Parts: sequence; C-alpha cells; structure tokens
Amino acid sequence: MEYSFPRYLLAKQSVDDRALNKDVLQALKAALPADSLSVVEVGGGIGTMLARLLRWDMLPESVAYTLIDASSENIEYARAWLPRWAASAGWGSETIRQGELRLYNAQREVCLRLIAADVFEVVEHVPTAQLLIAHAFLDLVKLPESLSPLLSLTNNLAWLTLNFDGVTTFLPTFDPALDAHLEHLYHETMMAHGDHQTGRKLFGYLERVGARIVAAGASDWVVYPQDGSYAGDEAYFLHFILHFFEQSLGDHPEVEREAFARWLAARRQQIAQGKLVYLTHQMDFLVAVRRLS
Ligand SMILES: C[S@@+](CC[C@H](N)C(=O)[O-])C[C@H]1O[C@@H](n2cnc3c(N)ncnc32)[C@H](O)[C@@H]1O
Repeated sequence: MEYSFPRYLLAKQSVDDRALNKDVLQALKAALPADSLSVVEVGGGIGTMLARLLRWDMLPESVAYTLIDASSENIEYARAWLPRWAASAGWGSETIRQGELRLYNAQREVCLRLIAADVFEVVEHVPTAQLLIAHAFLDLVKLPESLSPLLSLTNNLAWLTLNFDGVTTFLPTFDPALDAHLEHLYHETMMAHGDHQTGRKLFGYLERVGARIVAAGASDWVVYPQDGSYAGDEAYFLHFILHFFEQSLGDHPEVEREAFARWLAARRQQIAQGKLVYLTHQMDFLVAVRRLS
C-alpha cells in the first residue's frame, strides 16, 4: 500500500466530522461575529478544517484565514485541493495578491493566506487574529511551554480540538497482553515530541496562562464498520494508523518482532474483512484569552 499523508488527512475528514464535540462547536458558533472574522490555523495540514467550517456554515460573510503548516507538501496540496473542493461545493476561487487564494460565493468570501513554516519560527510575524484554531496539533508539541506563543496569535478566542488523551483501542481483542503492551509503548513514543495526555493536562495549562475555558468536551475517534464496510475512505485512515504504529514501534527494543508482525497482519485483515473498530479518546476546548488587541 502507498502511504500518502495528504490522503490520510482527506480520509480523516469524516472521522473528525463525527468526533468534533458539538457542544464546543455550538459555543464557538455563538461566539463568532456575523460580519467579519480573522482566523489563524496552526498545523492546518491541507486545509480540511477551512473546508469543514464552510461546509458547516460556521463562518461569517468576510473571513481572512491564515493557515500555517510546517510541511510545504501539505501547503502545496492545500493550494491545489482547496480550489477543487470549492468548485465541487459550488464556490468560486481565484488567486489574488501575493499568492493568496480567494474563495467566494454569493454570500461569503474567504481570503486565504498559506504559510509553509514552523509556527514557532513565524509566530512574531503573523498578525494576531480573532480566532486561533489548532486541530489535531497540540498533542504533537511540547506543552505547557508552547501554549503562550500559540495563544499570542489570538486576541479573543482559541478553538483547540482533537487533543489526544491517553486511550487507543483496537477491537476485537487480539491478545490482551500484547494489545495493552503495544498501546502503552505507542503512547510512550508520543512523549518524544508531545504528550499522550494532552487533553486532560490542558485544563491546568490553560488556567496557568490565564485563558478562560468557555466550553470543553470529548472528541473521540470512533471508527467502525457498518455491514462489513467503512464510511468514505476510512479503511485507508485505519491502514494509515497501523502504518503510524509500524513506524513508531517497528524497531522498538521492547517489541518482539514476530509477535508485532502477526498483530499487524491480523489488524490489516480485520480492516479488509470490515471487522476492525478503532477508538481514541480526545478532547476539545474553546477558550477566551484575556488580552485586548
Ligand atoms: C496530525 S496533522 C493535522 C493536520 C490538520 N490539522 C488536520 O487535522 O487535517 C499535524 C500537522 O501539524 C503540522 N506541524 C507539526 N509541527 C508543526 C509546527 N511546529 N509548525 C507548523 N506545523 C506543524 C504537520 O505538518 C501536520 O500537517
């Protein structure tokens, strides 16, 4: 199988659509202005969150949206994919000043600036926005020290979503001891860059930096077959998750190679047979920062 990160992010859309906490989403919708909004999204990948917010009719009439991602492959993919997505959704698109993209329909327009950079290297050069979005991102970075620089990108709200929180479960059980051992080691490998308990720790971290939690709730991934098949491209999503496992644990000194190979083969077969269920626990937050622009 060919593993493509942009295709993984595309396949993840329907999983995230179900997962995003709808109470937190409603609180965000209630807090957004009706006329114009500036947004900065960090670790925005290929732009699926912008597409989602437009699909869900969340955004006001006029939006200035800055998307930052460290991968230039993702940014170039976004530049090509968003106009295609826009056309399929009945929106027009055009390239305007300095490579910005404008997406528009009769009621709304979004001016999109795409930046390929490590957010921590550009944080001081990006204008503050009314809304910061960090989706499936905060568990990849060092907290709490990254929180203040990231929150400095907003003068009002931050919507911090899909923060991993310490549960990764595959069903049906393969071998209880091996399943638990692999989950434990997988979570341990996450500690190299981020934290496998980001969700719960954010309560304390946010309080420490003076951000007020407006709403919080679970946003678990629940991927399951119906009548032996998965929605959309979710079988690919599951294969990609197993690929993450293989990359993270393939050479781990505490992983017995043959047992892991059998585990991976069994999980891949369960996908093919439409039997694998995959669960992760994650948390969403809407916070208000106490800073005036
Ligand atoms: C799990 S992906 C999520 C992407 C997107 N938010 C989504 O859910 O479709 C995390 C993204 O963060 C980006 N990333 C990681 N570290 C970054 C950094 N320091 N600055 C900017 N982007 C970063 C990666 O390139 C990747 O696209």
